[in-house]
Amino acid sequence: MTQPAFYLHHPTNADAWAAAVRRLAPGLELRVWPEPPPQDGAVYALVWRPPVGFFDSIPNLKGVFALGAGVDDLAARTDLPHNVPLIRLTDAGMAQQMVEYVLFGVLRFQRDFDAYAAQQAEALWRAQSPRSASEVRVTVMGLGELGGAVARALAAFGYTVTGWSRSPREIEGVDCIHGLDALDAHLPKTDVLAAVLPSTPATRGLLDGARLDRLAQGAGVINVGRGDLIDIEALCARIDAGRLRGALLDVLPAEPLPADSPAWRCKSVLLTPHVAASTLPEPAIRQILVKLDGLRAGQPVSGAVER
Ligand code: GLV
Repeated sequence: MTQPAFYLHHPTNADAWAAAVRRLAPGLELRVWPEPPPQDGAVYALVWRPPVGFFDSIPNLKGVFALGAGVDDLAARTDLPHNVPLIRLTDAGMAQQMVEYVLFGVLRFQRDFDAYAAQQAEALWRAQSPRSASEVRVTVMGLGELGGAVARALAAFGYTVTGWSRSPREIEGVDCIHGLDALDAHLPKTDVLAAVLPSTPATRGLLDGARLDRLAQGAGVINVGRGDLIDIEALCARIDAGRLRGALLDVLPAEPLPADSPAWRCKSVLLTPHVAASTLPEPAIRQILVKLDGLRAGQPVSGAVER
């Protein structure tokens, strides 16, 4: 088979991605946007948030590899024909980073670092009453590669972990539940809610005010999936009212978060600019090359997106 060509678009880090492709696949032709796409032979696009119309310019597009785990923006596009396979990354170094980030968030609530930060601002020396990890009931929403790794790691750390997904899953050490009724029944037994969900029609707006009201008194919320899961204004209102304890949010309904969003000023909300798990070019390109071989051999490929 003749070698296909890659056409790469990355908004901020194209040089590092191109260098990884050249290092790991020196035999492949590579063009980097805004150069024009390769004109001859099969072309596979490697993209993160490409400009509108990007795919229209590629004459022989055989497949699209998203340089990330979430494909909400790509799945919604009109310039990407439905018969072109769309493949997302599966883990590629992100699971470990997600585990670190969520563990930090859970520890911040369990070990009262949020309370101590507030006390420090008042020069207040006062011990909070301790809670063991097993006393903290964490619910992880989303049990894919990333959510599953988070749930497993928190359970190994001693937290009491429930994992929720739409369809049934099994994870050792984790009490797995599925379906919306089970979620609603479980929210009152949740001290920390950690969401690792993609943006789909089924997840958008799922954590509205009514569901947030079901959480245990003083529960904390962590979101590392997609920002449109949560009604952010409802969340901030409940934190400001003392009904919920606080939040650690890496993803927001609009990114960058507008300066007038209440989340910037909500007490005990810690915000990070969508950095919980970055894709690392080297492991990602390694994974894409394996998926490419599978795709060209007509085999099922992990991360293939149903569109
Ligand atoms: C980042 O949010 C990703 O989807 O990889």
